[in-house]
Amino acid sequence: MRLLVVGAHGQVGTDLVAAAGAAGLPVRGLGSRELDITDAAAVQAALGYLAAGSAETGARGVVINAAAYTAVDAAETDREAAYAVNEQGPANLAIAAQRLGLGLVHVSTDYVFPGDGAQPYRPTDPTGPRSVYGASKLAGELRVLESHPDAHVVRTAWVWGTTGNNFVKTMAKLAATRPTVDVVDDQRGTPTLAADLAAGLIELAGGAVPGGVLHATNGGETTWFEFARAIFADLGHDPNRVHPTTTDKFPRPAPRPAYSVLSGEAWVNAGLTPLRGWRAALDATLTAHPEAFVPA
Ligand SMILES: NC(=O)c1ccc[n+]([C@@H]2O[C@H](COP(=O)([O-])OP(=O)(O)OC[C@H]3O[C@@H](n4cnc5c(N)ncnc54)[C@H](OP(=O)(O)O)[C@@H]3O)[C@@H](O)[C@H]2O)c1
Repeated sequence: MRLLVVGAHGQVGTDLVAAAGAAGLPVRGLGSRELDITDAAAVQAALGYLAAGSAETGARGVVINAAAYTAVDAAETDREAAYAVNEQGPANLAIAAQRLGLGLVHVSTDYVFPGDGAQPYRPTDPTGPRSVYGASKLAGELRVLESHPDAHVVRTAWVWGTTGNNFVKTMAKLAATRPTVDVVDDQRGTPTLAADLAAGLIELAGGAVPGGVLHATNGGETTWFEFARAIFADLGHDPNRVHPTTTDKFPRPAPRPAYSVLSGEAWVNAGLTPLRGWRAALDATLTAHPEAFVPA
């Protein structure tokens, strides 16, 4: 397998390139400056390069799309840009990949669901995004599968890692600068380590799973409040400095799903390795890479 990772400098993209390299796979990572996925001609050229390399070596070429417009609140008023990256970009990738005989793994989100469920969402459950971001990501999923039925759409949630800004880094900073912090305790989901997701996406890309939608998160579920307490504890701070609050105290332009747990059953049924529990992923990462979470 030869991989092309687009959105290669984001949280997931960075870990995809690292994981593929560590596994000894030929991989090329392109950030938004090297490849703007909204530019259909540039996408065709980049994927053409992958296809030529694959033909030369006999290796299967697979594109993994980790590029997205991820500013959830900004998307509410920046609709056109969100749709360009989250719908048209994936469509460009799917059309070119299908034409060139390349595989495609496209990353999507729990925000495609309404978030009012009470049981883990399965890939086949009805969608119903409540935000522009979620709607644009759902539009992207549909365009991918319409143009490339063998492609894989993988929804994930609550991503964090050593790269970029994320909830764990925010909590690390607040722990160092504030006596207490209020965190919402009425949104449930599963924190997902970008590196674990990346490993799963690479396993999927190299396998023979039929195309369609799958869910991949770390195991278990929690609330942001409980997650924050675990982060404080792992960083050696008193978790009782984290106080529970409710979503209505933090009005945001885009509504947040109250319930975002994704079922990993289809992932396991496809023969793929389940991602470890979220707490194990947190403990291991904060122990192995404490420097990544030291506030700047
Ligand atoms: N973060 C989460 O909690 C979360 C939750 C569920 C699902 N997801 C999904 O997971 C995937 C990866 O997210 P992430 O957390 O890694 O996001 P991220 O850190 O924001 O990375 C996204 C990357 O996409 C790039 N990008 C934006 N516009 C682009 C364009 N037109 N062409 C090429 N690249 C472009 C960005 O580059 P620039 O910075 O240079 O613009 C950025 O490096 C996305 O599909 C996202 O929807 C994320």
